Amino acid sequence: MTQRETQPETQPETQREVRRETPPETRRGRLLELRDVAVTYRSAAGDVPAVRGVSLTLGEGEALGVAGESGSGKSTLAMALLRLLPKTARVTGGILLDGEDVLTMSWGRLRAVRWASASVVFQGAQHALNPVRRVGAQIAEPLLVHGTATPARARTRVAELLEQVGLPAWRERSYPHELSGGQRQRVMIAMALACEPHLIIADEPTTALDVMIQAQVLALIRTLIADRGISLIMISHDLSVLAATCDRLAVMYAGKVVETGPSREVFTAARHPYSRALAEAFPTVGDLASRMAPRGLGGDPPDPMRLPGGCSFRPRCPVALPSCATRDVELWPADRTPDGQIPDGPALDAQAPDGQAPGAPPPDGRIPPEHARPVPRHTAACVHVLPEPAKESA
Ligand SMILES: Nc1ncnc2c1ncn2[C@@H]1O[C@H](COP(=O)(O)OP(=O)(O)OP(=O)(O)O)[C@@H](O)[C@H]1O
Ligand code: SF4
Ligand SMILES: [Mg+2]
Repeated sequence: MTQRETQPETQPETQREVRRETPPETRRGRLLELRDVAVTYRSAAGDVPAVRGVSLTLGEGEALGVAGESGSGKSTLAMALLRLLPKTARVTGGILLDGEDVLTMSWGRLRAVRWASASVVFQGAQHALNPVRRVGAQIAEPLLVHGTATPARARTRVAELLEQVGLPAWRERSYPHELSGGQRQRVMIAMALACEPHLIIADEPTTALDVMIQAQVLALIRTLIADRGISLIMISHDLSVLAATCDRLAVMYAGKVVETGPSREVFTAARHPYSRALAEAFPTVGDLASRMAPRGLGGDPPDPMRLPGGCSFRPRCPVALPSCATRDVELWPADRTPDGQIPDGPALDAQAPDGQAPGAPPPDGRIPPEHARPVPRHTAACVHVLPEPAKESA
């Protein structure tokens, strides 16, 4: 074993370490834009609306974290980006990658885009790798399929890639079952890097790993995206992992994005009650009381086939109002003054109800005082949240 294999590359992250937002000068342009993306699976029991109207953007070199509980639609959204969903899935909306709509691309064009422009680190490396092929052959495959390397050059490139992800070149002869979970995850990352894509979509890349290996893999991902200017979409149910790795966060609940904003803002000052509950589930370093009794959220995520009317978070929301039963939540820009003006340009990712322009005041005219804080480009979610809301009567 080499030194790189046996020594951790970094100490584990503290639970509350949060990455700062990428400085604006490093954002060179918009790489990905999702416009009202919806995914519905057809099943024997009926239609499953897994993703419901998601609009997001991703800049070049930017890292976006997608958080949410199991079943909130994270993997479905990620797989939709490269049309990797099964035939039973119907996808609507627009997915613009470098200005080209993925949903209307020919199969030939799509094959060229996969791996070369955008690649995926799939959830669960154990199952994503082919168990009967050596890992070197699996890493070389996208290079050979895309014709970017001769077989001889591909072997050299595989050795380089293994070295970049902290594995010795001789590991190319290993089968997946001969590697640890962390090593398999590194192989998946090497595969994703093989054709030097602009975008990597990493679906729960560290969930099955112990905390030390998790820290190593996260450090590796951070280094690779920083050194190469690769954009990243990273999916996890662990908000603290995402906050430490990504510039911005999007929180999903029942197939919708309920809040987006800079990682620091969403993790430490979330506006939507669900994002707040996710963040509060993690103890604060140095605060013994929070360590002994981290707060969670009661109840279960809703079945997408049986969503409650109005806001789908209402059955679990600690600050629900009676009107939440009839009105769904919409995203509103947070960086506005009390009179509804946006002080320094339009908010990112602003969504507004049908027929209303982003930036218009909420329909009921109420702007929670916290929205008046001049936090640039933060998008708040819940227009009902007031400082001391009345509890919904039973
Ligand atoms: N092929 C399918 N057919 C029908 N329903 C599906 C299919 N795949 C996923 N679903 C449903 O879509 C919803 C979203 O699933 P998805 O896998 O995207 O969630 P997730 O947020 O990635 O969850 P996890 O954190 O557990 O990975 C779930 O209710 C799931 O049961
Ligand atoms: S206050 Fe109402 S609209 Fe806001 S999250 Fe709670 S239930 Fe949903
Ligand atoms: Mg998933």
